[in-house]
Amino acid sequence: MILDSAEIFLKLFNASLIIICAVYLIVEGRRKLMYYRIPSIGCGNDPLTSLRAAVRFRTDCKMLIQEGYDKFKGGMFKLAMADRWVVMVTGKELVNELWSAPDGKLNFHKAVEETTKSRFSFGAAVTENTYHVGVVRTRLTRNIPDLFPEMLDELACSFNDEFKPSTEWKAYSPIPRIQQIVCRASNRLFVGLPKCRDPSYVQLNIGYTLEAMYARKTLNSYPSLLQSIIGRYITNIAARTKEAVEHLTPIIEERLSILERSSTDYSQLPNDLLTWLIIDTDKKGRNILELCQRVLVVNFGAIHTTTNTFVHLLFYLAANPDWLEILREEVKSATEVDGWTKTAFNKMPKLDSILRECLRIDGVNLWSLIRIAMEDYTFSNGVTVPKGALIAAPTFALHTDGSTVQITGNQPVNVFDPWRYCNSNRKSERLDNQSTTTSWDYLPFGHGKMSCPGRYFAGSELKLMVAHFIENYDVKLEHPGPKPPNVYIGHSCAPNQKARVMVRTRSM
Ligand code: HEM
Repeated sequence: MILDSAEIFLKLFNASLIIICAVYLIVEGRRKLMYYRIPSIGCGNDPLTSLRAAVRFRTDCKMLIQEGYDKFKGGMFKLAMADRWVVMVTGKELVNELWSAPDGKLNFHKAVEETTKSRFSFGAAVTENTYHVGVVRTRLTRNIPDLFPEMLDELACSFNDEFKPSTEWKAYSPIPRIQQIVCRASNRLFVGLPKCRDPSYVQLNIGYTLEAMYARKTLNSYPSLLQSIIGRYITNIAARTKEAVEHLTPIIEERLSILERSSTDYSQLPNDLLTWLIIDTDKKGRNILELCQRVLVVNFGAIHTTTNTFVHLLFYLAANPDWLEILREEVKSATEVDGWTKTAFNKMPKLDSILRECLRIDGVNLWSLIRIAMEDYTFSNGVTVPKGALIAAPTFALHTDGSTVQITGNQPVNVFDPWRYCNSNRKSERLDNQSTTTSWDYLPFGHGKMSCPGRYFAGSELKLMVAHFIENYDVKLEHPGPKPPNVYIGHSCAPNQKARVMVRTRSM
């Protein structure tokens, strides 16, 4: 029997279809099997209970993680999110493996790209080439002592604008005011004066952070295939980026023209992040859109994290006036000797301690060290996670596990103890007790080579903010009592959004 070509084509087509489906089912089946072998918390492996757990994840993530941690300490468990599983690893051995695995196996940037949808919000160029991270990690950190006076100057002005001088008590919702202050003080070192004070530029950066978070939330609820199609249209990110370009174009053009006149003499350029971004890239990278996207991304990393941490501290101090007095004393004696310099701020162990404790208990996320498996990956305990799996380590649950965490202090490990880290005189221990010193069991800034590049900047800025605030203002809670409870949405932890503080200018 002779087959005509249409029949042959049809048979080949059907055979290929069957092979493709079979391969897909085998790969998918293997993937599912790997997930099934990791215990789930709050659900089974079926779609119905995992959907219910994903809903619970939105409001009760802290309890879900704690439940998993208590049951599988030293091992792994998984949680259902709306669009995927997240595998949590615990215990020294596995956590160390998570942060130290090579990028080709467990990748941090891929995890950021997938969880923040950064390709749509930050832009493809910024996602593919992350040299701005190195600029923050090295140049910004190195310049902190020199730029300390500028940061202090901006903080003094912005606190004065946000908490108007008054000897009468006035009630304030702290979050919007602290956002303004953090944005201005950070941008003093990112883009300089006068732009850092321009209200529409400040609003743009604060709004961009919220917009990017909204984009992530919205896009995460669509299947990945649709995300790439609708990504550009359902968010205002493009409009915000255009605004940033309008704000920064004249400043960038001026700096580029200085460079054109003398390409290696940087002394004519202001000493700030924008300049470092310009000089640390080649001609192609000196593209206005890309430079603006990088400034926006760094703001995204800086504003919300630093604001939340300061507001937690503010609530603690407002609820505990005796702690505030102890800190005032420390700031006064250190600045009397060394002035308001980085040297003085290196001699404030109590301020270091309360900041580290705040990040340990009230860190911005309930997990850290996010990674995506670039291939099927077998951990040292023999458990394999499939290619594409999102993996993380718990923060709060790990930070408050007295059986594994090496911790001093007078209070139990799960209770906030402001002076937990300041009782040592040994220099090495004093370094370990800084808020910025990370370890496998202290993860608010991540750990290892992918840890937060801005943490030394954040640490200095937060210490300056607290010191300036307590020197110049009195504070108490509007409704006296303990620190207002935190708000947990999914895996993020924020200070109470409704509580207000009463503030008045100190009479010296
Ligand atoms: C209290 C304040 C802050 C906290 C708690 C914080 C926390 C973090 C964490 C957990 C990561 C991911 C690391 C990992 O999971 O391994 C990260 C990344 C990052 N942070 Fe921070 N951060 C803070 C302040 C800042 C500031 C002030 C800046 C900028 C000056 C900054 C810039 C960044 C950037 C650019 C990344 C991405 C790093 C990369 O892509 O490799 N952060 N931060």
